[in-house]
Amino acid sequence: MRLEPINLHDYEARAKELLPYNVWNEVESGAMDEVTTRRNRTALEALVLKPRLLRDVQHRDLSTTILGTPVSMPVFVCPAGGHKIAHTDGEKATAQGAGMSGTIMVLSTGTNYSIEEVAEVATGPVWLQLNHRSKDLSQMLVRRAEEAGFKAVCLTVDSPVPVPQERSIRNRYDHPFERANFRGMNVKTGATVSATGDPFAWRPDAARLTWEEIDWLRSITPLPLVLKGIRGPEDALLAVEHGVNGVLVSNHGGRQVDMTLSSIESLPEIVETVNGRLELYLDSGIRRGSDVLKALALGVRAVGIGRPLFWGLAVGGAEGVHGILEILRKELDRAMAFCGQTSVQHLERGIVGIPRTWGLGEYDF
Ligand SMILES: Cc1cc2nc3c(=O)[nH]c(=O)nc-3n(C[C@H](O)[C@H](O)[C@H](O)COP(=O)(O)O)c2cc1C
Repeated sequence: MRLEPINLHDYEARAKELLPYNVWNEVESGAMDEVTTRRNRTALEALVLKPRLLRDVQHRDLSTTILGTPVSMPVFVCPAGGHKIAHTDGEKATAQGAGMSGTIMVLSTGTNYSIEEVAEVATGPVWLQLNHRSKDLSQMLVRRAEEAGFKAVCLTVDSPVPVPQERSIRNRYDHPFERANFRGMNVKTGATVSATGDPFAWRPDAARLTWEEIDWLRSITPLPLVLKGIRGPEDALLAVEHGVNGVLVSNHGGRQVDMTLSSIESLPEIVETVNGRLELYLDSGIRRGSDVLKALALGVRAVGIGRPLFWGLAVGGAEGVHGILEILRKELDRAMAFCGQTSVQHLERGIVGIPRTWGLGEYDF
């Protein structure tokens, strides 16, 4: 008899057995030599917790709000294209799993089920993640998200050019399912499009994305705007100045540019610069409740998980995604108790120790 997974590593191992080789590698891989992907983990592991004892920690509250939306815990599901590769119910199952855990799912632009199909079955709050390809396409997607009752728009800003994962090039991986948000549309295709006519292979406007488009996006929707992929204090400050509501500090799980700092190493300077003027979140490498606690104590409101959602889907569809989130909930809760903390909204900074050598300030640019 197989034992239930007791942590995210168990889910990962089980998913590896279940998924086809090329799909597994597409999910797991990072860009180029995958140094940043590994660094996301080693940096989180380099942070230490300082337990505080002899405090009453009987009652612990993991609930919070994200851009005003109540969530049962400070962990959300990151946007990722094409969930059908891990489960036939794809993003519909992910939305249900997130809903069961009372938290947000960020729906990618490049999904296998459309905005409307996911909205129909979602039981929790959903955000739209936008890959800007042209103003027409972005406006069309934002309108549909508004009509579907989505709570925010999360624009990915760290992907000016496509970065095929080298493992996937070697495996000749080509996403096998349709990108449902563009079903029946004559989205620009042509010589630069991959074998399946993937509209994401054609993205000239992604390389032209600047703060002008941020102002434009602000002007076309009343929904809160989050920028995903900010890596440093300068861009975080510009986000404040351009009236952005939230910043997701992320290096895309190391899947875009290799050789950068990990997300968690980038965080302290961003927190200091932003100084509470917008909400901060973090993803890339979160695998344990103690990772969540570390990021929160350093100043983010919530964290996201990327690859683990695919592990959950592969193992058990919606139940699997729910299972992953519930493990993180339990681990976070326990880590809080050990560190003398009773509310995720009032964590003490002093429970986390950062190596003295950390941050961009330690490098000459
Ligand atoms: C298979 C896969 C597809 C992804 N697709 C997208 C996407 O469409 N848009 C996006 O902004 N981020 C995408 N991401 C990045 C995630 O949103 C997130 O930043 C990253 O996975 C977090 O790191 P982690 O996997 O270590 O948790 C993708 C990640 C994976 C693994």
